[in-house]
Amino acid sequence: MRDIISITDFKRRDLEFLFRITDRILENPSRYFGTLRGKILGYAFFEPSTRTRLSFESAIKRLGGQAIGFVEPSKTSLKKGESFKDTIKMLEVYSDIIVIRHPADGAAKYAAEICRKPIINGGDGKFQHPTQTMLDLYTIYREFGTIDNLVIGVLGDLKYARTINSLLLGLANFKPKKLYLISPPLLRPREFILDYLLESNIGFELVERLNDVISELDVLYVVRIQKERFPDIMEYNRVKGAYRVTLKALSEAKEHLRILHPLPKLDEIAPELDNTKYALYYEQAQYGVYVRMALLLSILLEEVP
Ligand code: CP
Repeated sequence: MRDIISITDFKRRDLEFLFRITDRILENPSRYFGTLRGKILGYAFFEPSTRTRLSFESAIKRLGGQAIGFVEPSKTSLKKGESFKDTIKMLEVYSDIIVIRHPADGAAKYAAEICRKPIINGGDGKFQHPTQTMLDLYTIYREFGTIDNLVIGVLGDLKYARTINSLLLGLANFKPKKLYLISPPLLRPREFILDYLLESNIGFELVERLNDVISELDVLYVVRIQKERFPDIMEYNRVKGAYRVTLKALSEAKEHLRILHPLPKLDEIAPELDNTKYALYYEQAQYGVYVRMALLLSILLEEVP
């Protein structure tokens, strides 16, 4: 596919195709050095980012290409009143592929409509972060050899976190044994997400306490409460600090439980977990580079070696 806008544009076979390329890159990274020599990745980040921008930059550079772009719109001619459309049109003429992050739902889709170069959604609005989901699913597949038949708990802000909305939509391509959606009632997933899971025959249960399900989980995916997306700070104040995963909280966990987190993490995971066998979130971020290398190769080459 040319543009990467929504995870719902990807079926299981597409994701497994991407996983296979990622596996090949991980087996022999040096084989891919220079395969995108001369290509330029442009990025336009209208919201802060560490992983998404830097991992795309790392990915294109490892493939022999270069990256240009901005992370502070206030230091571009947007500050002088230039439009979003003209800003994207400039990246179109300066680069071969463009990654966009934006606070507004649909910003990446709009960019794809006005731009002749491939657009990758690096996270827009509340619902879509497709490349994050690709690396999340790859991490699970890489660790367990499968995504099917696993019991997966998803904990935290299931309403506003686009990583979660994307993940739940992406997981619907597979056959997890069960999903536990763990959140305060205020932060339950939106109805259209639950409907999508139902239509996809994914068994799920809404629960409030990690303790009630921890012993069943193979994977625990944790996300921070997204303070910046709450329309009402009073609502945020009612749920902030709702969860903190500690070693004690994992006392009934399976030996092979693995914890994922898209990062950044704040206080929802105790730092004491960082160096335990449970923590997979740093490897997850590292796989992000390789998954994004696979994605860039798939889009920019006729055939991936
Ligand atoms: N996971 C993720 O999107 O991280 P950043 O916001 O740092 O890019």
